[in-house]
Amino acid sequence: MAKITYRHPNGTETVVDVPVPNTVMRGAKINNIDGIEAQCGGSAQCGTCHVYIDEANALPLPEMHESEDDVLYGTAAPRRANSRLSCQLPVSEEIDGLVVHLPETQS
Ligand code: FES
Repeated sequence: MAKITYRHPNGTETVVDVPVPNTVMRGAKINNIDGIEAQCGGSAQCGTCHVYIDEANALPLPEMHESEDDVLYGTAAPRRANSRLSCQLPVSEEIDGLVVHLPETQS
């Protein structure tokens, strides 16, 4: 289980406990959190699970694969240095306390 905070563009946030195994994207979907569309179901194809990792987080996230890197160039909201696809972020105890910012739009 890991506590994940999803911060919405309007400044509000939703904090949930996400069971392991899961992804940060699935954590949003199973908790009915708006702002993550995940049209491709988690196969790093659609870019509609785009999030910005909170800059204050120094948590051990996995390296970005080439396919994720490619998809992030086509997201609806601008790509930033802290952009990731939430479907490519496995939930584990090591990322307990992760904060992700949801973009203004996913499509
Ligand atoms: S769910 Fe489609 S890229 Fe993540």
